[in-house]
Amino acid sequence: MTLVLGIETSCDETAAAVVDDTRCILSNVVLSQIDDHRAFGGVVPEIAARAHLVHLNPIVRRALAEAGCRLSDLDAIAATGGPGLIGGVMVGVTTAKGMALAAGKPFVAINHLEGHALTARLTDGIDFPYLLLLVSGGHCQLLTVEGVGKYRRLGTTIDDAVGEAFDKTAKLLGLGYPGGPAVEQAAITGDPDRFSLPRPMQGRPGCDFSFSGLKTAVKRTLDREIGDLDDAAIRADLAAAFQKAVADVLADRTANAIMACRAKHSDLRTLVVAGGVAANAAIRRRLATLAADVGLDFLAPPLPLCTDNGAMIAWAGLERLRLGLVDTLDFQPRPRWPLDESAPKSVGAGLAKA
Ligand code: KG4
Ligand code: ZN
Repeated sequence: MTLVLGIETSCDETAAAVVDDTRCILSNVVLSQIDDHRAFGGVVPEIAARAHLVHLNPIVRRALAEAGCRLSDLDAIAATGGPGLIGGVMVGVTTAKGMALAAGKPFVAINHLEGHALTARLTDGIDFPYLLLLVSGGHCQLLTVEGVGKYRRLGTTIDDAVGEAFDKTAKLLGLGYPGGPAVEQAAITGDPDRFSLPRPMQGRPGCDFSFSGLKTAVKRTLDREIGDLDDAAIRADLAAAFQKAVADVLADRTANAIMACRAKHSDLRTLVVAGGVAANAAIRRRLATLAADVGLDFLAPPLPLCTDNGAMIAWAGLERLRLGLVDTLDFQPRPRWPLDESAPKSVGAGLAKA
C-alpha cells in the first residue's frame, strides 16, 4: 500500500489530504479562508499567506489523524509548487520539504493544474488519453491529457479566466464574494433570455476563449437598462443570461477541441471538466449534452474535488512517485508554471492564481 500526503496552499484554501494507491481518499481536510477575504471582495495575497502559515500545521496533523497514519507511514509528501500566489505556495512547499527531510521521505512538487487534471483518475480511474476542460479562477484551458506530465494545450483564454469572469460579474451584480456560487444561485430563478449578451469567440476556428467582453456587456446592460440592483429579478435574469452565455461559449470551444483531439487520438473516449467552475451545474449539464451528442463519456469530479483540495495534490504526487518523478529539496516555488511547457506563451491569461 502506497500512502501520500498532499498539501495545497496556492490560493485561499489551506488543505491537506492522504490518499492511497487503491484510489481511496483516507482524509481530505480543507479550510476555506473566504471569511478572511470577503471584506476585500477578493483574495488578498498577504492575508492568504499569513493564514496558511497559521493553519497549515494543524490541518496537516488533522489529515494524518483522520487517515489513521503517522508521518513515518507515508511514502511521500507532495505539495503544490505553483502556479499560485507565491507567499502561500512557499508556506506549503517549505512545510512539505521540512516534513520530507525530517522523516526521510521523498518530496514531490506538484503543478496545481496537474492536480486538477489528474483528479478524474483518482475518482474514476480512467485511462489516458482524455480531453480536459480546465476552468478555474485563474485558468480556462483545453488540454489533451496524454499521460502523467504529458499535456498538450489546445486552447486558452486570451484575457480573463472563466472563474474570474464569474467573480467580476458577481461584483457588478452586487452578489458578493465568492462570485461563482453566488451567480449560480441567483441564476436559478432568472430568465436567461431576457437580456441578450455576446458569445465571444463562438463560431470561430480554434479553441481559444475570451471573457472580458462578456463581463463588459454585463456592465453595459446594467448601466443602460437598469441601474436598479435592488431588483432581485433583474439580478437573477442577468446572472442567468451570463451563465448561459458562458456555457454556450465553453461548449462551442470544447466541440472544436474534441475534433482536434480526435484527429490525433482516435481512441479518445472521455471529456473531463475540472477546476472550481466545474462545480456549476448548468455548465456541467451543457457539457454532458455535448459529450453525449458526439459519443464521448462525460466526467466531472464530485463538487468538493472540483474546487481546490489536498486530495488532488496527494493523488498527483502518488502518480508521480510511481513513475519515480520525485523532486529534490532544491525545488523553488513557481508563481507561473504552464502545464504544457511547449505551448506558446499565453496571450493575456496566466494570473498568479490557478
Ligand atoms: O479551482 P478553484 O477552486 O481555485 C482556483 O484554482 O482558481 O476555482 C475557483 C473559481 C472561482 O473563480 C469561483 O468563483 C469559481 O471557481 N466557482 C464557480 C462555482 N464555484 C466556484 N464558478 C461558477 N459556478 C460555481 N458554482
Ligand atoms: Zn484550482
